[in-house]
Amino acid sequence: MRRRCFAVVLSSLVICVRSETCFSKEFGSSSVVCLCNSTHCDDIGQVRAEYGKITIYGSSMAGERFQRRTAEFLHHAPGDDMDLTVSVQSKTLQEIIGFGGAFTDSAGVNWASLSPNLQRRLLTSYYSPEGLEYNIGRVPMGGCDFSTRDYTYDDSAGDFELRKFALAQEDLQLKIPMIRFAKSLSEEEIFLYGSPWSAPAWMKTNGKTIGRGGLKGSPGGRYYQTWANYFVKFYEAYRDHGLTMWGFTLQNEPTTGFLPWKWQTMAMTPYTEREFLKKDLGPALFKAAGSSIKIMILDDDRVVLPYWANAIFNDAEANSYAAGVAVHWYKDNLTSASVLESTYRNHPDKFLLYTEACEGYQASAPAVIMGSWERAESYAEHILDDLRHYINGWVDWNLFLDTQGGPNWVGNYVDSPIIVDRDTQTFYKQPMYYAMAHFSKFLPRGSVRLDDTLVGYQSGLTAVTFLRPDKLRATIILNKNNSAKKVLIKDNDGKSFVVEAGARSITTTLR
Ligand SMILES: *[C@@H]1O[C@H](CO)[C@@H](O)[C@H](O)[C@H]1NC(C)=O
Ligand SMILES: *[C@@H]1O[C@H](CO)[C@@H](O)[C@H](O)[C@H]1NC(C)=O
Ligand SMILES: *[C@@H]1O[C@H](CO)[C@@H](O)[C@H](O)[C@H]1NC(C)=O
Repeated sequence: MRRRCFAVVLSSLVICVRSETCFSKEFGSSSVVCLCNSTHCDDIGQVRAEYGKITIYGSSMAGERFQRRTAEFLHHAPGDDMDLTVSVQSKTLQEIIGFGGAFTDSAGVNWASLSPNLQRRLLTSYYSPEGLEYNIGRVPMGGCDFSTRDYTYDDSAGDFELRKFALAQEDLQLKIPMIRFAKSLSEEEIFLYGSPWSAPAWMKTNGKTIGRGGLKGSPGGRYYQTWANYFVKFYEAYRDHGLTMWGFTLQNEPTTGFLPWKWQTMAMTPYTEREFLKKDLGPALFKAAGSSIKIMILDDDRVVLPYWANAIFNDAEANSYAAGVAVHWYKDNLTSASVLESTYRNHPDKFLLYTEACEGYQASAPAVIMGSWERAESYAEHILDDLRHYINGWVDWNLFLDTQGGPNWVGNYVDSPIIVDRDTQTFYKQPMYYAMAHFSKFLPRGSVRLDDTLVGYQSGLTAVTFLRPDKLRATIILNKNNSAKKVLIKDNDGKSFVVEAGARSITTTLR
């Protein structure tokens, strides 16, 4: 049973109302945001479905947010006016690992800027059954651009033994408390993975955490060994705080380390990744964490796939240490999702996980747009397309940013599904938040995609179907058209039904 609205008297004057309905607010863009403050806040709530019935949840540019309705199976032949027909097959495809976001330092700063009551609401919005039911969290290992300063865990030059290695105040006061809180709200294990941006400056060819440069020496050498041990130290330090990492990406955006980059980065080619993995990182992490630790290669845009994966996985020894490929979305518009599928076909035993994505990163676009439906559509369209090309999960970037899209120590402001305004002690759930909900709340870990054929598919009208561990089938439909579309869904058990996908909407059905 879902929690009902209830009222708590905080003082004689303030009543806290929890509601199922969005307290919508307009900021002059295409759609609305849902507001949460100390007196007004909504929960998405738990999904309610019944076997033998069809449950439909819809969100739209017009302002619907996760609105529930039901429908009946057809007892007669469907009309011939269908815009899209989805014929679901019994063949099963990839399995879902999960959905999530990143516990960046900046997310922590915004989280900590709100009252304890709203801090709870923020994490509830993402990690509880009343929220997005996220079950993955990314943890930057030390500073990145979404920090308020540039730091690493061991800035003592020449400390090859890492005796001075220590977590930062950002870990102890922000990230660890936030993740532990999220864990206490989640009904599922949250898969945490660490990602490094840069080694300490003293270990690098350019003597800086930023800009063009890589680790000194070569894989198997002193610097690379120390860098592998740095991962182990991080693993152990978080474990000592009750947070055991599920996995690691080998290096955040290694291709940016070949450019005069403005924030923390470190260059690696696929050949460096391959040698570092087999000579240093793989053995060190397997020894410390066991061979079930998930090491992911790449952690960068898909333009270099499948080449990058082939270069590493075609080496049997490197292959034995790697579990998957981590992908960022920033150049997705330049490369077809077919490169994901070819990576999957070449290496079917490796998973494909999107590990970072956000809107508002383009130089020409505003960082934050409050209420943009186009950005929700962009999320939904990319996630849907990527799921149709064999990805196993999708992890968003910063969980919470401020109204400017930060803080960010180099001014690289971007958007986030939840925007925090510390001055008014309010947070806003963007349309992107609901785009995530249409996937994360319906595709629990262990769901498997069902093969299908789409008839009438057109750009901006598409769907994907999964079979969940509870045997319910979920179909997610995106309609970017300005008019409503009729979608016929034919299941492989002979049942079929029609869903009206409203104008500019995202719709999920369960049956
Ligand atoms: C919370 O937001 C609502 C709706 O905008 C507003 O009426 C109310 O005054 C706000 N509460 C506080 C404490 O600011
Ligand atoms: C792709 O292009 C569209 C339209 O220009 C833009 O809105 C969207 O943000 C882009 N997506 C990515 C992932 O770059
Ligand atoms: C929307 O659908 C109509 C048909 O109903 C079609 O003519 C039009 O091209 C579609 N618009 C877009 C942007 O796909």
